[in-house]
Amino acid sequence: MAKTDEPKLPDIEFHNNHSRVDWQELEGLFTLTKLGGRKGDKLRRAFLNSQVVCYAYDGDRLVGVGRAITDGEYHAFVYDVAIHPRYQGRGLGTKVVRTLLNRLPVWRTMLVASADVQPFYALVGFAPYPDVMARLNPDKLYDAPALA
Ligand SMILES: CC(C)(COP(=O)(O)OP(=O)(O)OC[C@H]1O[C@@H](n2cnc3c(N)ncnc32)[C@H](O)[C@@H]1OP(=O)(O)O)[C@@H](O)C(=O)NCCC(=O)NCCS
Repeated sequence: MAKTDEPKLPDIEFHNNHSRVDWQELEGLFTLTKLGGRKGDKLRRAFLNSQVVCYAYDGDRLVGVGRAITDGEYHAFVYDVAIHPRYQGRGLGTKVVRTLLNRLPVWRTMLVASADVQPFYALVGFAPYPDVMARLNPDKLYDAPALA
């Protein structure tokens, strides 16, 4: 996690819709935060297809994002939480995740996090579960067609 000399978070605006998003800026945020495979139209569609989104702005600059998909009843999955490196370590990631969680009317919210990021999610209540399975298809990470 990048630390910054600025101790305080500036006034941040949180948006729960896509109206203000510059999709290239969003892609740039994922490049900066080194989250791979998030590019172009595929990235744009992934956010547009997510019912719950959070975009954090410092003035005109996009400084944090997160999104969730949900059935609106039982289950949700949080994805793509990313904070601009210059804004990390000041509570913004926590705010983005809490903003998503507050809007999810479900009892189970899941996510995938590498071991080094798990302590961050643990602080907002996530815990590892042994009975979760996943199937990965790397062929579909970059250039699979959009959902029919
Ligand atoms: C992980 C990430 C979202 C955290 O956002 P952030 O704004 O830096 O986090 P916060 O400032 O809200 O941190 C809250 C707490 O989590 C801790 N924390 C944050 N990132 C951490 C990490 N990678 N490992 C361990 N602890 C972490 C902080 O120290 C802080 O603890 P404290 O309250 O005891 O001081 C951000 O660092 C990021 O965008 N990383 C790159 C992209 C990424 O890995 N995203 C996650 C994809 S699953």
